[in-house]
Amino acid sequence: MAGRALLRVFNGQPLETSLQRYRESKHYPNVSFLCFQTLRHYFSLAERLRMLLNCNHTTLDREVWAVLLIGACQLQFSSTPRAACVNHLVESIKKLGKTSASSMINAVLRKYDNTTPIQENTSKYELPNWTIDWIQTEYPLHAVSILENNTQHPPLTLRINVNEISVQEYCALLEEQQIEFAKTVVPNAINVLNPKRMQTLPGFEEDYFAVQDLSSQLAVPLLASLPSDIILDACAFPGVKTRQIRDLYPQNQIISVDIKTRCSTWNIRTNDNVLHEHTYIQADLTNETEIDDMRFQRILLDAPCSGSGTLRRHPDIKLHCTMESVKENAELQGKLIRKLWKMLEYGGSMIYTTCSIFHAENDEIIECFLMEHQDITNEAITLPYGVSTKYGWQTIPQKDGSDGFYFCKLRKIKKNNECM
Ligand SMILES: C[S@@+](CC[C@H](N)C(=O)[O-])C[C@H]1O[C@@H](n2cnc3c(N)ncnc32)[C@H](O)[C@@H]1O
Repeated sequence: MAGRALLRVFNGQPLETSLQRYRESKHYPNVSFLCFQTLRHYFSLAERLRMLLNCNHTTLDREVWAVLLIGACQLQFSSTPRAACVNHLVESIKKLGKTSASSMINAVLRKYDNTTPIQENTSKYELPNWTIDWIQTEYPLHAVSILENNTQHPPLTLRINVNEISVQEYCALLEEQQIEFAKTVVPNAINVLNPKRMQTLPGFEEDYFAVQDLSSQLAVPLLASLPSDIILDACAFPGVKTRQIRDLYPQNQIISVDIKTRCSTWNIRTNDNVLHEHTYIQADLTNETEIDDMRFQRILLDAPCSGSGTLRRHPDIKLHCTMESVKENAELQGKLIRKLWKMLEYGGSMIYTTCSIFHAENDEIIECFLMEHQDITNEAITLPYGVSTKYGWQTIPQKDGSDGFYFCKLRKIKKNNECM
């Protein structure tokens, strides 16, 4: 299963989609762990394997390469005895009809040594060289910590739904169940120290919490909505921030839009614990939509991006993201911000946010946009951690802390000092 899931990732599928079909299987936790761990350490596992191969790994059948990587991951990180691990993988590859590769797999994995020193920079930081170079150029002061923290396991962060329970009461529930946790600098956010499946945490059914990265929790409060504001939640799927908007601004009318089809879990709970039929519009926001004539007082644009601030949470990104795809994202981000700006009412504000650490998807988008428009003020943002940028604020991946997110606040003003 793990080999197949990895193969789909090599073929371009996001890891979470690739694992989806095994959700109900009893093997899911193990398969998921193996795939995440293999991708998190892809470059060092690949380097150690390459030392044992008589050929360039790119000439190998992709399924065989996936099985070799899974084997190397097990030998590197698990206590499974070598013989059991190798025999299992050799049998698996035979079942896949690749009998001719079984002796090579057997030979390579029997020789695999998890103490062999790695030489390449790409293996040290588990990233492609272009990404390392880019981070070093853009973050001369923080590059080492960003690169090192990207290889760490991300923390499990909860946003406590204070409409249902106070943070103090929720912490007491965790203590009762002897679940270790740490409070954070973000109000209502706590880290669970021995991550568990969220379904097993207290208050899952009661909607006491949502799983949401620390930095991701910072965007919605920046909207600072008044109860009468209509909020456009642009690029809303899968709805993590929609849920936060609903919790923080329960009286507001919210319209969520995304190019993706709404899924069955979309209904968002209101604070009286009733499933709320939320206005969700499936639309491509770069084209004409049914809400083009509406005007909003607040817009959250959670733009599609490379996800370069969340590499440890989504380690498949490092295989899929390229300099080209970052440029394509930037084009899409530019189109989205231009289109949505027209839908913002004068006096209203837009929060532009990404989970990217690349300037090309952040400050550079805003710079370009500001040059084209005069009806904007760029408002200063200060958050509890991270760094100020030319036009906004950047959080960078922290050990046991947040992912890397970008935030920018823009207010729409009338040109030439006209009255609003
Ligand atoms: C960063 S994700 C949004 C995450 C979401 N706000 C949340 O908190 O759960 C970016 C979203 O942009 C959507 N998207 C990409 N291109 C789009 C387009 N042209 N129009 C509308 N949505 C788009 C993607 O489907 C994706 O769900």
